[in-house]
Amino acid sequence: MLNLCTLTSLFLLSATPLPREDGLRLQEDNIPAIVQALTLEEKATLVVGGGFKSMLSGFLGEKGVRVPGAAGTTRAIPRLGIPSIVLSDGPTGVRIEPTRKRDKDKTFYATAFPTGTILACSWNQEMVEQVGRAMGNEALEYGIDVLLGPGMNLMRNPLCGRNFEYYSEDPVLSGRMAAAMIRGIQSQGVGTSAKHFALNNQETNRAGNDARVDETTARELYLKGFEIAVKEAQPWTMMSSYNKLNGEYTQSNRWLLTEVLRDEWGFEGLVMTDWTGRRNTGRQIAAGNDLMEPGLKSQIRELVSQVKKGKLAEKDLDICVTRILELIVKTPTFKGYAYSESPDLQAHAKLAREAAADGIVLLKNEGTLPLPKTIQEVAVFGVAGYQTCIGGMGSGTVHAPYAIQIPQALQAASIRVSPSIQTVYENYLQKRVRKKRKASSMLGEAIPPEFALDAQALEEDRADMALFVIGRQAGEGGDRRLEDDFLLSDIERKNLEAVTTAYHRAGKKVIVVLNIGGVIETASWKDLADAIVVDWQPGQEGAAALVDILTGTVNPSGRLAMTFPIDYFDIPSSANFPYDSQGKGSMNTFRKVRDRGRRNVDFTEYAEGMAVGYRYFNRTGAPVSYPFGFGLSYTEFTRSEIQQAEESDGSVIVCVTVKNTGHAPGKEVVMVYGDGVLKGFAKTKRLEPGETETVCIRIAPYLRPRSFLMVS
Ligand code: BGC
Repeated sequence: MLNLCTLTSLFLLSATPLPREDGLRLQEDNIPAIVQALTLEEKATLVVGGGFKSMLSGFLGEKGVRVPGAAGTTRAIPRLGIPSIVLSDGPTGVRIEPTRKRDKDKTFYATAFPTGTILACSWNQEMVEQVGRAMGNEALEYGIDVLLGPGMNLMRNPLCGRNFEYYSEDPVLSGRMAAAMIRGIQSQGVGTSAKHFALNNQETNRAGNDARVDETTARELYLKGFEIAVKEAQPWTMMSSYNKLNGEYTQSNRWLLTEVLRDEWGFEGLVMTDWTGRRNTGRQIAAGNDLMEPGLKSQIRELVSQVKKGKLAEKDLDICVTRILELIVKTPTFKGYAYSESPDLQAHAKLAREAAADGIVLLKNEGTLPLPKTIQEVAVFGVAGYQTCIGGMGSGTVHAPYAIQIPQALQAASIRVSPSIQTVYENYLQKRVRKKRKASSMLGEAIPPEFALDAQALEEDRADMALFVIGRQAGEGGDRRLEDDFLLSDIERKNLEAVTTAYHRAGKKVIVVLNIGGVIETASWKDLADAIVVDWQPGQEGAAALVDILTGTVNPSGRLAMTFPIDYFDIPSSANFPYDSQGKGSMNTFRKVRDRGRRNVDFTEYAEGMAVGYRYFNRTGAPVSYPFGFGLSYTEFTRSEIQQAEESDGSVIVCVTVKNTGHAPGKEVVMVYGDGVLKGFAKTKRLEPGETETVCIRIAPYLRPRSFLMVS
């Protein structure tokens, strides 16, 4: 990768004399004149990103880099007043280098917000929009013009390594969450990039995999969320994915990027490639892919030559250049915004805690939660209990200033942590850190493997209750495996059995906490637990949010955004997904991808069609461990009859009154289904016992079903 950069940087643009354009400078209202004034070389320069300098500034040095660690830039054309703008990951918060050599006295940490999955489980669009506003504000204050998110691919299969960044197995939930996030971020005057468009549903061989899918399934499932996000929130940009769609790279797929995205849906922004390297750049431009990221200088030369040889129409290049200029004039950089480099991290941390608590899902509760006052000491089991996994790995990582740990959060709530158990785990973690250099935080941290608990430790433990934390890490560049990941490892299973046996024998309870980025198997062990709480990968304040739920300070109101199957092979897509990929074989982004015809690696048949998630299980009645939309509360709600009305534009408004009939304050999620699939949803405010709220859900004409059925 570095060699390629070094080599290509030796290439210099041919020194064509520039036309004299005295005084012409880019403005919001003179884009056509600027396009006319640009030379062919300059046009090609504008559509090719500025390379790896910012992203690799930790290795290459910070010289000439405005925001170290930002994923990419565009190239400036100073003679026409066209600045370079800065693009930065990502979907769970701003990912830039937290320290700088040139500014040693300052830090540049960003808030690690709850990941996409837990946000979606909140079903709370207002909350997600608020998180978006805070993320957008951090981007703005760190000098960033476009935040590269939201990640919004559909969760086709639970083993996709990047599911933590994504929202749901349902396109309406994904699309609405993405729209809320986009509105929030863009309200701050910075752009977003809805990604990865489209059908990027596996990480294995992501740069070469051909997603083979029929058009109805593509439109109704995999594109629908993007359609909603475009129609409801107009992201400034979209990111075309690495993979192919039915034989053509999405990045050079004119049907996808122009006919569907622009002509049908009315997308007004720009499309950039995912961080790809060079393919056929002219073909990408002609398809409607406006910006090549991260951008190699050889792509500039390639474009110039393709236009000169008549292989690429200059007017197609002009269209892309125009879109780039239209983006640039909207940015804080163009407007000369004086960013502070000190966003209000304290206020955002508070929001991160609230948002995490809103998405935590209570799966099981047999008279265990909220914790009674008699519980004074809790024993925390599991490595992730002491090294919480706040987010996944890869570009979705955020360099957070800190991560609250569960013991710390329990103590802050005046609950003691069993010292004997804590010592066992802390000794183990200390040894591991000493043995193995700590994983770089650049791409996120792995969780060390579990070890077998010895009986002695359990005997010395005197806690009133046990918290058994099961942690999972995954991320960009690899899919999850079945063994020791979707399934509990033998050690985890034995430890869980040992802890539950010891506690139950003593008449004490065990709460299992799932600190996971994607679905795991629960059916075979859930009977052992007295309560199960999914706190997902909840961001830097997640442990505090978890304790808010355990103590009842916050009533759980999260609902599953995806199905938890009984067996992995119950899922139709399991027949066509690389579940035994060993997490390998996908980081070939910059190498030439050779199609060896390997099933589920070089191509993947979406043979299950629409039978994804609850669509399959509801239709067939096949049993699941926990269904889509499931989540318990500490209170109860009733709902009135549905009121349905039609608006003049063909939208349907569905209203229902929700009443808290239980004894604790809490929020309730209302879901509207039509033709058997989710059509809309809303979350109430926090209702006191006895309080009511009428929620109204608007269903746009393009989502309108034939029949409605209200469920919760
Ligand atoms: C990821 C994108 C990310 C980009 C820039 C790629 O590898 O797929 O999601 O925005 O890198 O970091």
